[in-house]
Amino acid sequence: MDYNILLIGFMGTGKTTVSKCLSRDMNLTEVDMDKYIVEHEHKAITDIFEEYGEEYFRKIETECLMEIQKEKGKIVSCGGGAVLKDENVKYMKDGGVIVLLTATPKTVYERVKDGNDRPILNGNMNVEYIEKLMNKRKSRYLEVADLVIETDGKKPHAISKEIIDRIDKLAKNS
Ligand code: S3P
Repeated sequence: MDYNILLIGFMGTGKTTVSKCLSRDMNLTEVDMDKYIVEHEHKAITDIFEEYGEEYFRKIETECLMEIQKEKGKIVSCGGGAVLKDENVKYMKDGGVIVLLTATPKTVYERVKDGNDRPILNGNMNVEYIEKLMNKRKSRYLEVADLVIETDGKKPHAISKEIIDRIDKLAKNS
């Protein structure tokens, strides 16, 4: 495969879980951007935000994405804010099919509420805040996506199958 499949979307839309499933189903390597950053920096995401701030995290995020995109044939699970920078989208589009996973604010809340590893939500862990931030980012996610997959009430395996089918159709139509 001469391209990467990049999963994007708000925190808690299932990018990490689905990318693991997709990588098994397609027999491709999976790269989790957040995990890549943690290994690169030898620090947890919350510690990077706390010690150096979001701007520094975004800089590292771009550097890591650039590295990840150099090699094709992988499934890449992107951090929820990775699409916010034009430069990042440019790297993603270069040999990448961008798949947007969506979920309602309530579903996202249920999936993330017990975690404390998302600095963007720390101190704002409620449906209202999630909905507000999601609405702010929504048009950006839709604008950059090649495919949109709703995840509410679906099992990871079903989502993975849906992605494979939709990418097949996309390839046939191009
Ligand atoms: C972020 C999402 C997180 C992580 C960081 C910032 C965001 O990734 O990159 O905490 O701005 O939406 P997940 O979407 O994998 O939780």
